[in-house]
Amino acid sequence: MVDLGRIGIVGGAGWLGTAIAKALVRSGTVSADRLICSFRRSKPVEPLDCHWTQDNRELVDNSDIVILSVRPQDWSTVDIDAAGKLVISVMAGVTVENIRERTGSTRVARALPNAAAEIGFAYTPFFVASSETGDAETVGALFRGCGEVDLASREADIDYFTAMSGSGAAFPALLAEAMMNDAVARGITLAVARRAAQQVIIGAGRLQERDSASPDDTVKSFVDYRGTTAAGILAMRRAGFANVVEAGLDAAFRRRRFQFNNPVIERRASHWNTRRFCPARPIAAGSIWPCGRRRRSRPAPSRKTIPMTRATRQDLRLLPACRCVRRDGCCRWSA
Ligand SMILES: NC(=O)c1ccc[n+]([C@@H]2O[C@H](COP(=O)([O-])OP(=O)(O)OC[C@H]3O[C@@H](n4cnc5c(N)ncnc54)[C@H](OP(=O)(O)O)[C@@H]3O)[C@@H](O)[C@H]2O)c1
Repeated sequence: MVDLGRIGIVGGAGWLGTAIAKALVRSGTVSADRLICSFRRSKPVEPLDCHWTQDNRELVDNSDIVILSVRPQDWSTVDIDAAGKLVISVMAGVTVENIRERTGSTRVARALPNAAAEIGFAYTPFFVASSETGDAETVGALFRGCGEVDLASREADIDYFTAMSGSGAAFPALLAEAMMNDAVARGITLAVARRAAQQVIIGAGRLQERDSASPDDTVKSFVDYRGTTAAGILAMRRAGFANVVEAGLDAAFRRRRFQFNNPVIERRASHWNTRRFCPARPIAAGSIWPCGRRRRSRPAPSRKTIPMTRATRQDLRLLPACRCVRRDGCCRWSA
């Protein structure tokens, strides 16, 4: 086994930080005495028997590898100088460039485990932007302790996987829930429907694991058998199953940027969430625009439009049927 040195997890008390820490120790990737985790308010209820600190700088000083596992909105509270250290971020949507700037490290990687890290069954794609040649191997060895890994050649792939495998553990559960609801609607008791749906996804996962068959091979073999399952698969396809999944992944992908990577959009979103502002509704004179300014009683005659960037426009597509026209430094929203 590769000696990875001492590992520090900033946000090690959090859900994913704890899952990674436990998986690393359980898999023997690192021993607990070479692991240090930081926490902000409190340690987990059953903390791992490793070193704990509330001082992220102390953590960095005592680590060869620093894993950043705080929520993106808390990233600004982490003030560290990790020059010379390998810094691995599992934060969704925070770029390598930003991590380099904020930590002073030229050895930066992004990895994206998922909820199954806790039980050692995560899928973790990772991207490495480092001046050190062995870093890709190190990151791979580290996350192999949490499950399967793949080295991504583009940073953008990590952003994509945030929506796909990062959120992925929830999607088979969504399918199982729909099956469960269908069973209940047809008179099966809830307890039985729940057990049946649960066992279907557990069994499907185990079969997939045992046979090492790819999902498309599995589906094809059922379709080729031309039985009841094939009838179900074909009907689901005809009803637009692929489109539904595509729309879901697309929404999850755009939500990642919407939520974390665009402070302007994030501010506007929180404005709407808190004040229930509807961008499609006309705003009365004297009320407040989303930007915080008061609407003048007489609209300005100028209709000069400042073009938005493509990224901003894409983000805005998330909002209910609206478009933004900036006027005189103020926002105007219309359906
Ligand atoms: N959950 C997932 O399935 C998943 C999957 C892929 C990627 N991720 C990414 O993993 C990151 C962590 O997610 P999570 O679900 O584990 O969130 P979480 O449960 O909220 O954990 C974040 C932890 O960071 C701590 N923290 C915040 N600021 C800190 C600071 N300055 N110093 C030390 N600790 C600090 C928080 O402490 P307090 O509780 O005291 O605030 C909390 O314990 C996120 O960036 C997310 O995008 C999550």
